[in-house]
Amino acid sequence: MKHRSEQQRERLNAHVFVCTNDREEHDCCAGAGGEEVTTAVKQWLRDRDAFWTAVSVSTTDCLGLCSADGAALTIQPRNEWYSDVTPEDVPDLLAAEFGPAAEQVADQVTSPADD
Ligand code: FES
Repeated sequence: MKHRSEQQRERLNAHVFVCTNDREEHDCCAGAGGEEVTTAVKQWLRDRDAFWTAVSVSTTDCLGLCSADGAALTIQPRNEWYSDVTPEDVPDLLAAEFGPAAEQVADQVTSPADD
């Protein structure tokens, strides 16, 4: 086992977890566009050179915010939570969190190239 917290704290400003949970008996994020929201989050970050350099993105199971109207996501370690997110919501949501050009993450992370 390796304890990698320090390495990740230096590299990452935040981690976005998007629910893509699929189930049949209740509303779920898979049926509400979870994969499309994930794609939109990654693309927004890629367009600003922040994908994986400062902000990582993962899909996850149920976050307890299930809805038929959009996916749930959380941004950690900021402890921010959203539900009913559609791909169209993603630009405004991420701009509010990270700045329109993701400048609020770039300033806070030390790149390995800076060492
Ligand atoms: S299925 Fe996504 S929050 Fe529950």
